[in-house]
Amino acid sequence: MVGAILGSIHDIPQNLLQQIKDFEDTFTVDSTKLKQVVDHFVKELEKGLSVEGGNIPMNVTWVLGFPDGYEQGTFLALDMGGTNLRVCEITLTDEKGAFDITQSKYKMPDELRTGTAEELWEYIADCLQQFIEFHHENEDLAKLPLGFTFSYPATQEYIDHGILQRWTKGFDIDGVEGQDVVPPLEEILKKRGLPIKVAALINDTTGTLIASSYTDSQMKIGCIFGTGVNAAYMEDVGSVPKIAHLGLPADMPVAINCEYGAFDNEHVVLPRTEYDCIIDRDSPRPGQQAFEKMTAGLYLGEIFRLALIDLLDSRPGLIFNGQDTSKLRKPYLLDASFLAAIEEDPYENLSETLDLFERQLGIRPTPPELELVRRLAELIGTRAARLSACGVAAICKKKNIESCHVGADGSVFTKYPHFKARGAQALREILDWAPSEKDKVSIMAAEDGSGVGAALIAALTLKRVKAGNL
Ligand code: GLC
Repeated sequence: MVGAILGSIHDIPQNLLQQIKDFEDTFTVDSTKLKQVVDHFVKELEKGLSVEGGNIPMNVTWVLGFPDGYEQGTFLALDMGGTNLRVCEITLTDEKGAFDITQSKYKMPDELRTGTAEELWEYIADCLQQFIEFHHENEDLAKLPLGFTFSYPATQEYIDHGILQRWTKGFDIDGVEGQDVVPPLEEILKKRGLPIKVAALINDTTGTLIASSYTDSQMKIGCIFGTGVNAAYMEDVGSVPKIAHLGLPADMPVAINCEYGAFDNEHVVLPRTEYDCIIDRDSPRPGQQAFEKMTAGLYLGEIFRLALIDLLDSRPGLIFNGQDTSKLRKPYLLDASFLAAIEEDPYENLSETLDLFERQLGIRPTPPELELVRRLAELIGTRAARLSACGVAAICKKKNIESCHVGADGSVFTKYPHFKARGAQALREILDWAPSEKDKVSIMAAEDGSGVGAALIAALTLKRVKAGNL
């Protein structure tokens, strides 16, 4: 199959062709494997809801139901994802499902990921303060309730608190794990004369679920395919044994933030390669986020780099002969956008890929080598999309959902070429739809979960507080 595509463009020497085939064997995940992954996934989702717990945290979010579309009010939203920090002011208007949004985006400096807790909170406060000062025309801005989208695993006993279980996505800041993240934020803001109250602490997936269901009642799952991967969905309290002791009505809906990046941390089913093992070994949290490390944007470029380094070291002379490959030795030098650009290159002579290699790595691949790197990018991107579909399929199977919409966001979903089509194809294989059938579960672009979703959840929370419920 591949030989046909490649062979039509350049004659590839036999040894490179063999290497391409080896990569295909390493990275291809067939339907049978996908189904095995999903079967195990369903069991692990269940386990996470049990009293004993499992690898997947299945965090209870205290978001108790979907919005009705008539939520109103003005809110601040703070979004701390993996790459950017965003501050928004959102007004949910009196028109059903409508909103206005003003926002500023700040790139989180890389050093912050591994800096100190104080630096993190100071930086966040700086951004919020700047936003408020800039939009000073609304003098009450600092008095608005804040929805804080904190996209890391957090355990919550109340919606306006959250204890960080562990950092993910390469973050490694001392003194935050095991702590409630709301008090240090509120304190630093207070010190700066900004008496902002966190009305709700939410995850980006929960925000995505709620924001998407605000405008589309068929939305049942919210997903992020970005720097990290994760999903949230609505469960009934009666199906969550770990909160049975609270005596809440069994049919009460409650959103669960799965944190399924942690799926298969015990290495039972995922087809891990030696490159996945190296990524895990050299990460700040070895043994954690096994599923995420194979599928998320943060790792795709690194998997690609490690595969090339492996060729350079284990098969000297096979690729990039006589060239200076020292730049390629730097961990995490390449991000997912590098792979995306290779995959976007129109397949004529792969000149963009050549350009990219020259510019970023100082390497000038030969035409057959260009075809090898192109195929490697395709394989890594395809594996990520196919495995990503397993999480969605597992939630559908667990909930017996036959058809629904899935709201998705994140840089990989929105920007990585073919990700959507490859994911949809995998879903078709896993859920055994006949070729003539229309997709019953469709993954589609979500509403802005970390902004609008956070505002909606803050609105829903305040409404409940006012009504004296939970
Ligand atoms: C990581 C985080 C999770 C988040 C996801 C997507 O998996 O642990 O909370 O939802 O990334 O941003």
